[in-house]
Amino acid sequence: MGYRTRTMFPWPLVGRSSLLLASLLLAAGHFPRTGVATAPPALPLSASEYSVVTLGDSSSGVDVDVFLDLVCIDTKKAWPVIKQVIQTYDRAVQWRFHQFPLPYHTNAFMVAKGAVVAATYGNDTAALRYMDIAFARQIQVSNELTQGMTYKAVEGVVAAWVQEATGLEREVVRRKLQEGGVEEAVRFSFKYATIRSIFGTPMFVINQMLVPGLDGGSDVMDWEEYLAPLLTQMARES
Ligand SMILES: *[C@@H]1O[C@H](CO)[C@@H](O)[C@H](O)[C@H]1NC(C)=O
Repeated sequence: MGYRTRTMFPWPLVGRSSLLLASLLLAAGHFPRTGVATAPPALPLSASEYSVVTLGDSSSGVDVDVFLDLVCIDTKKAWPVIKQVIQTYDRAVQWRFHQFPLPYHTNAFMVAKGAVVAATYGNDTAALRYMDIAFARQIQVSNELTQGMTYKAVEGVVAAWVQEATGLEREVVRRKLQEGGVEEAVRFSFKYATIRSIFGTPMFVINQMLVPGLDGGSDVMDWEEYLAPLLTQMARES
């Protein structure tokens, strides 16, 4: 479940304790006392490089970064709406899907690796099909239902989904799920999201701006409120 199901997110506590930590570190001489405390992260990150699927035209002028977790109930709620909005705007909007497997969803990282295998060894269509399957059968990989399952058994469930989406042999999929490059793709996707200040799913960034008004409960009309003015502006400028 995403952060939005928590009605009482303890922001003041977070603020106070990190302030305390910062002053402790400062006192201990961890930060230079002159000006900027931290340099920007050194990862060579570009949005498209760390997306699992990209749709639409990179020259469209309106781009949406979707941060999702395939094991998140709120992302599952948002998925049909996102698909409808994609159809409505067709190629006028570029969509980049970034995976942000939340640590409290025990199997989220494995399920995210499945999407990378489907995209890398299948194609974008296969990856989107895999996501459809993952959302539809999300309950099978929930914390509750996998309590008594081994890591390998969960890998088997994910491998079956990838097989169904791509047509690849089950054993081939299992080997690919264990590849270092597949693991790394999800790690970098996660790091990319954290650098963009993402802390839950689904979260949406439109033209580099985080849009707090869009979440798992948004409908197509909510999306239109944000996208229509941008597209009108693009049309005027071109
Ligand atoms: C994508 O993969 C699917 C399933 O493997 C296949 O049926 C389809 O033809 C592929 N599409 C393209 C555009 O290559």
